[in-house]
Amino acid sequence: MTTNTILRIDTSARRANSVSRTLTDAIVARFPEASVTTRDLAAAPLPHINEGFVTVTKGSAQDTLSDTQRDMIALSDALIEELRAADTIVIGLPVYNFAVPSGLKAWIDLVARAGETFRYSEAGPEGLLKGKRAIIAMASGGTEAGSEIDFATPYLRHVLGFIGITDIELVKADRLAFDPEGTMKAAQEQVATLAA
Ligand SMILES: Cc1cc2nc3c(=O)[nH]c(=O)nc-3n(C[C@H](O)[C@H](O)[C@H](O)COP(=O)(O)O)c2cc1C
Repeated sequence: MTTNTILRIDTSARRANSVSRTLTDAIVARFPEASVTTRDLAAAPLPHINEGFVTVTKGSAQDTLSDTQRDMIALSDALIEELRAADTIVIGLPVYNFAVPSGLKAWIDLVARAGETFRYSEAGPEGLLKGKRAIIAMASGGTEAGSEIDFATPYLRHVLGFIGITDIELVKADRLAFDPEGTMKAAQEQVATLAA
């Protein structure tokens, strides 16, 4: 799969010395020719979805919507458009309390939309974002990637798959508390092996 357009999503609350941001930097640098759109969910936090948003359906007439509903749908549309426009999604994933940062969950809640990024068919749910590649840069202090207390990476893999993104690579800098240098070196080596 070629990488021409990248959507980079940074989610660490840290701006300086963030491991996941260091890795998303390195991953994006692997594709010097690609155009990059960045969503920094710490610099510009997204709102949590609200009652107005969840009660809008695809058939809701525009003139029945409140201003708040229209704003939320417009934001969701813009985020989904960014996803559609990208062939590769690079996501920084610091593990926060064994799960994904709440800012990333807010993004997920805004982009996982029936009729837009998934739909229900006779055969069950079907993801509508096809032919995309995702690269996750995971960082954790003590939680081992893929262990039974890692609810972050399996969840993110699952929800990306739910919206149709099934080509997922993981760059992991997990258990940084134990061997930060060795872990970072291994993670940078994983970045170097990503298919250009
Ligand atoms: C609020 C918070 C919660 C955290 N929870 C966990 C955790 O559950 N498991 C873990 O291994 N590390 C945890 N950590 C450590 C971070 O995952 C680790 O510092 C990682 O490097 C953060 O990514 P960043 O360097 O990109 O900010 C937590 C850190 C913060 C700030």
